[in-house]
Amino acid sequence: MSAAVHILTLDGPSGSGKGTIARAVADKLGWHLLDSGALYRAVGYAAAMAGLDLSDAEAVTRCAQQIKIAFRDPKDGGETRVIVNGVDATDELRTETAGAAASAIAAIPAVRQALVDLQWSFRKPPGLVADGRDMGTVIFPDAPYKVFLTASAAERAKRRYKQLKEKGLNVTLASLLREIEARDARDASRAVAPLKPANDAVLLDTTGMSIEQVVAKVLSLVQA
Ligand code: DC
Repeated sequence: MSAAVHILTLDGPSGSGKGTIARAVADKLGWHLLDSGALYRAVGYAAAMAGLDLSDAEAVTRCAQQIKIAFRDPKDGGETRVIVNGVDATDELRTETAGAAASAIAAIPAVRQALVDLQWSFRKPPGLVADGRDMGTVIFPDAPYKVFLTASAAERAKRRYKQLKEKGLNVTLASLLREIEARDARDASRAVAPLKPANDAVLLDTTGMSIEQVVAKVLSLVQA
C-alpha cells in the first residue's frame, strides 16, 4: 500500500448515512470516493438482467469477474452516474430490490474476491474515502482513519422513508424497517466479511445527529 495516499474508511449498516457523509467528507478533503455498495448493487443488477439465479454462486461469480462498472460525474454537477456494462443503471441501483439483490450476492465469497482489485484501484493520491461494510476490516485494513457509523434501525428506516418519499416512491415505514432489520441480520451474520467494526475503528452513533454534525465530527478525526 502506497504511504502517500491517505485513506479514510467509513463502514456501517444501510441507512446509517454513510453515502451522504462519505461524499461530503471526500468533497471537503478533495479526496476520491469509493462507494463499494454500488459495486455490489451493480453485480446484483447485472446478474438479474442476465436472468441468473442469484443463489447460483458460480454464475454470479462469473458475472462479477466480467462486469464493467464506470462512475461518471455529470459536467453540470448532480449525482454521479453508474454505468454497468455500458448501460446507465443509476436509478435502478438505488431501489430496495437492488439493495436486497446486492446483499444476497455479497454473501458469496468469490464475488467479494472478484471485486477486490477494482476497489483497490480507487486508492489514488491525495486520498480516498471508502464507504461500505468491510472497508476497514478487509479491503483497507491499514487505513489510518477508520470510522464505523451506526444509528438505531428505527432512525435509519425513517431517514430512508424520507429519501424515498422525496423521490416519489411508494413505500411504507413498517416495510422499510422490516427490510432494514433483515438486511442488517444477513450482512452481520454472513461468514465472509460480515458487517462489524474494525478493532481500531472509531464508533459513531449518529442517532439524533444532523448530517453537518456527523461530517464535522468525521473531519475532526482526520484532521486531528
Ligand atoms: O451500502 P449499500 O446499501 O449500497 O450496500 C448494498 C449491499 O451491498 C449491502 O446490503 C451489503 C453489500 N455490501 C457489502 O457486502 N460490502 C460492502 N463493502 C458494501 C456493500
